Amino acid sequence: MTMLALATSALVVLPYLQLQDVKPTEGTKPYTAAQLRGREVYIANGCIYCHSQQPRDSAYAPDDKRGWGRVAVAGDYYYDKPHLLGTMRTGPDLMNIGVRQPGADWHLGHLYQPRAYVSGSIMPSYPYLFDVKDAPEPGDKPVTLPPGYAPPGKVVVPTAAASDLVAYLQSLNRTGAVLPPAGGESNPR
Ligand code: HEC
Repeated sequence: MTMLALATSALVVLPYLQLQDVKPTEGTKPYTAAQLRGREVYIANGCIYCHSQQPRDSAYAPDDKRGWGRVAVAGDYYYDKPHLLGTMRTGPDLMNIGVRQPGADWHLGHLYQPRAYVSGSIMPSYPYLFDVKDAPEPGDKPVTLPPGYAPPGKVVVPTAAASDLVAYLQSLNRTGAVLPPAGGESNPR
């Protein structure tokens, strides 16, 4: 009984008290409907198995030198349910990919064929997020791929899932200032 009470307070009550005052960091906004759908596509396709979303302190990893952004704090995840921290880093951390790669065309083309942009990339391609057509239909916005990567004589059109996923990736920007919490205690580095 004592053990259970101790465990509950250490793992449930204390974290709750520590995090109940967390506010979104500057610039961290609620996701739009399209971005939320894109988040589901990110989850469904297992992007988290190769990508983290948690730039670390220089004491643990040289993330600052990799250009992945400042150290993540709790307020960066204010609207993330569930959070997508990830632990595997087969690919780069994506917490600030919206700043590093702002262009929708780049993201779409990279999802269709990573090796068109990064030779030797081991990221899988996601062809099923695109329709390959003979010609664009009204309303279609074909992806501009580097020469030689579109199937000959065809156009590659993103599905709604691809466009939503890219809207989500473009929203990943946690570079805003970390404000010290009310009460004076400043955030750890
Ligand atoms: C098997 C591991 C793996 C999986 C799964 C994976 N990626 Fe990647 N990803 C990589 C690697 C390796 C790179 C670096 C080479 C490159 O850019 O292609 C990368 C690069 C990226 C980049 C560019 C990062 C930068 O800093 O330029 C983005 C964006 C990205 N991945 C998004 C995704 C999304 C979205 C998914 C899920 C649909 C996904 N990845 C799934 C391995 C993976």
